[in-house]
Amino acid sequence: MADTTFTPRVFSGIKPSGGLTLGNYLGAIKRWVAMQEEGTESIYCVVDLHAITVWQDPAELRTATHEVAAGMLASGIDPSRSILFNQSQVPEHAELAWIFNCVARVGWMNRMTQFKEKAGSNAEKVSLGLYAYPSLMAADILLYHATHVPVGEDQKQHVELTRDIAAKFNHDYKVDFFPMTEPVIEGPGMRVMNLRDGSKKMSKSGESDMERINMLDDADTIAKKFKKARTDPAPLPESPDGLKDRPEAKNLVDIYASLSGGTQESVIAEYAGAGWGQFKPALADLAVEKLAPISDEMRRLMADPAEIDRLLGVGRDRAREIAAPVLERTYEIVGLVRS
Ligand code: TYM
Repeated sequence: MADTTFTPRVFSGIKPSGGLTLGNYLGAIKRWVAMQEEGTESIYCVVDLHAITVWQDPAELRTATHEVAAGMLASGIDPSRSILFNQSQVPEHAELAWIFNCVARVGWMNRMTQFKEKAGSNAEKVSLGLYAYPSLMAADILLYHATHVPVGEDQKQHVELTRDIAAKFNHDYKVDFFPMTEPVIEGPGMRVMNLRDGSKKMSKSGESDMERINMLDDADTIAKKFKKARTDPAPLPESPDGLKDRPEAKNLVDIYASLSGGTQESVIAEYAGAGWGQFKPALADLAVEKLAPISDEMRRLMADPAEIDRLLGVGRDRAREIAAPVLERTYEIVGLVRS
């Protein structure tokens, strides 16, 4: 079975390592919905095995898994058109990751900036899973022969590593079995920054809640967080060039652009010369207009976790139909005896 042509297929995932943020929505979910609407076969995963590479309280992990799944559903992922499931229910992910652990090189892992950032000066004490994480991510993607992976900017290096793993596997075993997956990183919301420090990305696990917008924040909280967001004293510039070296200003313009489906140019065309006292409330209103229907629906879905579990189970069955034969063929290629 030499698969030289791969049909377009999208895979992407989010870790349930805390609540969903605006970064997850703009960098990932919003575009996943668009890809589903374009009709591309799409597989979206709550990557719980990735979450446990750092300590997760079991009860909080369950809640976060439901919240991430609810966020995907509430944003418009339709489980009858896309496949939606949680990773640990499809054991083929962990099995293929082992094969890839034997393909990937230690030197490749040592170059992963996200590992270096997360491990910091504590690299001896973090879990082995955190180190091997990119190999599991490659397995997530390649188990479905996914051709496109919509992610935020921070995941680009991991998708490039996925290509390196696919290429080395194909080369070593003289097959053309795994595709060269493309990261899809387009538009203004690909790197949403921390509202208190424009040099850091907005993340689920930052120290202060004021630095991020959570998908479950209410309207008052969203308005307060944007109002207190750090900015410089200058007004909005006359052209996008004027955002250079103004990370906080650029971030708020990018968030507005992404939420409105526009660009930096379109936002500047409307707000050139405006002060923050005018722009921040407009941004808060836009964010509430776009996010409130999603958070209302998330709360409704989360009130019935059994229904979320049922939907994840349907997705698991459909995912395994694709994953099991790919893993089986991988084992054959590698020379592992099947009885
Ligand atoms: P995670 O859970 O950190 O983030 C999920 C998605 O949200 C994007 N994202 C952002 N985009 C813009 N600005 C931000 N501040 C921001 N924060 C997060 C991420 O880029 C990502 O697209 N390793 C992945 C999960 C994963 C995965 C996969 C993704 C596991 N296997 C296979 C794609 C394909 C992660 O930790 O994402």
